[in-house]
Amino acid sequence: MTTTAVTDFQDRMLSLGLARVSEAAAIACAHHIGRGDEKAADQAAVDAMRRELNRLDIQGTVVIGEGERDEAPMLYIGEEVGSGNGPAVDIALDPLEGTTLCAKDMPNSLAVIAMGPRGSMLHAPDVYMEKLAVGPGFRRGVVTMDMTASERVSALAAAKGCSTRDITVCVLDRPRHAEMIAEIRSTGAAIRLITDGDVAGVMHAADPARTGIDMYMGSGGAPEGVLAAAALKCMGGQFFGKLLFRNDDERARARKAGISNFDRVYTRDDLVAGDMIFAATGVTDGSLLSGIRREIGHVTAETILMRSKTGSVRRMIYRNPVR
Ligand code: FBP
Repeated sequence: MTTTAVTDFQDRMLSLGLARVSEAAAIACAHHIGRGDEKAADQAAVDAMRRELNRLDIQGTVVIGEGERDEAPMLYIGEEVGSGNGPAVDIALDPLEGTTLCAKDMPNSLAVIAMGPRGSMLHAPDVYMEKLAVGPGFRRGVVTMDMTASERVSALAAAKGCSTRDITVCVLDRPRHAEMIAEIRSTGAAIRLITDGDVAGVMHAADPARTGIDMYMGSGGAPEGVLAAAALKCMGGQFFGKLLFRNDDERARARKAGISNFDRVYTRDDLVAGDMIFAATGVTDGSLLSGIRREIGHVTAETILMRSKTGSVRRMIYRNPVR
């Protein structure tokens, strides 16, 4: 086994390899879009992502994956992936983010993967995380976890030099968010409610010109929080996350992952400390990416591929004959 220094991590071909991984996972979902079978769609994405990952010349460890080893047969947390040659890297992945969105053919389901040097990602337990995100161009701490929802809207409007009525916030449509939604609406701000997929939700806040979203807030999965932080590290923008625990079992999961301060507010760079490469491929059509297109004889996928070190963002259309 050849060990390559971490400095080789940002290999440009490696980032293209990462795009192949998310493309493969998304394309594997093609026949499952709108078929109502979440499990089958997820399994197809997992199989394809793992197959493609194992072709990369990396010594990869899945840090954010499909679950604990005893829960997930593949791409479980701690699984080693890659050829075993090349840089030692941490990997966060969600082969199908928004399984329900895919099964129901609703917008913005994605295949997502991020990679950074070994030791660069928080080992987030599978618990909820309170999340807050805004895009690039604002002073650090323009909005904070300490502020109420309405204070965040006012602060962001002041920073943008606009009315609170010109702000749009993206929120997961859940009963647990009812109060927060009412408070945001009381400011006059608009809300884009999403039924699932908060990695895409956070990414929307980093690209307001394209998406019309200025801010993301609310709770969702902590693993998705690490993926979203990796995306924002590449796109620019601020992200804050605080783990939420509902019971002792969840606290035990956190302890097992090496977390002892249960009240900590993590910044984007606490969640992903090193340089990241990030790839997402659209499964269903959405406001960030087109979904998989199947036409007679070929399939087409759109991928966004980003590197935090250079700030480069590539949008790639991949067309391939169906065999
Ligand atoms: P899956 O892709 O695993 O179905 O997750 C979808 C998702 O909407 C995430 O994007 C989000 O973080 C989480 O579920 C929210 O959890 P809950 O549905 O329990 O509110």
